[in-house]
Amino acid sequence: MIAKRAQEIAPFLAMEVLERAVELEAKGDHIIHLELGEPDFPTPACIQEAAARAVMEGKTGYTHSLGILPLREAIAEHYHRKYGVQVSPERILVTAGTSPAMWMVFSAILEPGDQVILSNPHYACYPNFIRFCGGEPVTVAVHEDDGFQFRPEAVKGRVGPRTKAIFINSPANPTGTLLLAERMAALAGLGPLVVSDEIYHGLVYEGREHSILEFTDRAIVFNGFSKAYAMTGWRLGYAIVPPELIRPLQKMHQNFFISANAFVQAAGIVALRAAQPDVERMRATYDERRRFIIPGLRRLGFGVATEPTGAFYVLANAKRFTTDSYAFAFEILERAKVGVTPGVDFGSNGEGYLRFSYANSKDNIAEALRRLEAFLTHRSG
Ligand SMILES: Cc1ncc(COP(=O)(O)O)c(C=O)c1O
Repeated sequence: MIAKRAQEIAPFLAMEVLERAVELEAKGDHIIHLELGEPDFPTPACIQEAAARAVMEGKTGYTHSLGILPLREAIAEHYHRKYGVQVSPERILVTAGTSPAMWMVFSAILEPGDQVILSNPHYACYPNFIRFCGGEPVTVAVHEDDGFQFRPEAVKGRVGPRTKAIFINSPANPTGTLLLAERMAALAGLGPLVVSDEIYHGLVYEGREHSILEFTDRAIVFNGFSKAYAMTGWRLGYAIVPPELIRPLQKMHQNFFISANAFVQAAGIVALRAAQPDVERMRATYDERRRFIIPGLRRLGFGVATEPTGAFYVLANAKRFTTDSYAFAFEILERAKVGVTPGVDFGSNGEGYLRFSYANSKDNIAEALRRLEAFLTHRSG
């Protein structure tokens, strides 16, 4: 009954850790969740109020399939203000989150056997989108001593006749790394289309994030409101695409999704235009936690070769303790009552690492570090 592509899709291990953590909580355990890629802040009040106002004003119907024009204009304005790039609202498709935008775009551009180059490690879902849409992920290892950044030379070596796109993500999940501008420029010059997931833009603690559109127009941008605006459950994202791609995407969106949610789109405009002080407040808090968790993990014996400077993750080297990050993550959950994500979730090169999310309070992070210390001491003794 079940199609091969649905049978073969890999589970998302971070969710499996979470699901087991919830079972333990139901039995009375107290778990500290450092496995979640989700802000622990409420959505800023100005955004909540805008959504409530939009509902009361009756903005509850379908919208234009590409998204309401004022939101697409606000997105274009945001990209112009922040990166100095000109993006016409006609090149923007608004979707119910970044994830549907990825599914739509890969469905629209991949023929069977087309290859997409990914870093290894990478966001767990990327190869699943690519395979599901008939493509073939091709991975290029990135290394902790190089801040887990793509090396353009290494990527070049994997570009071939079947390469459809190079997929970048800066700041990245799971590594928190930022791609340097010169490396982005070099990747943009390799020939294939560059697909850039910019969902962690706004959550940068050192240096500055760049949009791929600063370097080339032969690019597709994914972005959304989940992370910087603490809006994961609202489901709002978008793609910025080359002009020739918008009509096929529009037809797909009309058929498969009709439109994104009307009042959530109205709130998205306020997020882009008025929530900057809230984003800055959250960013500063994440930064404090980042500065706290990195030395804490190092003290326990985890390796952090290059300090992450974006998103809210540390991919820490746990090879001193294990060669099996999956078993180790579950051991930590069961015995230390701390949820962490096994590095292998993010590709073979993530094996031996654990991803710690610092989208949790400093007090909870401090308690998690205490629990880990007790667990590791007991384990080695
Ligand atoms: C790199 C990356 N891209 C995309 C997403 C999904 O975002 P959305 O909530 O907009 O679907 C996530 C969520 O964790 C992510 O880490």
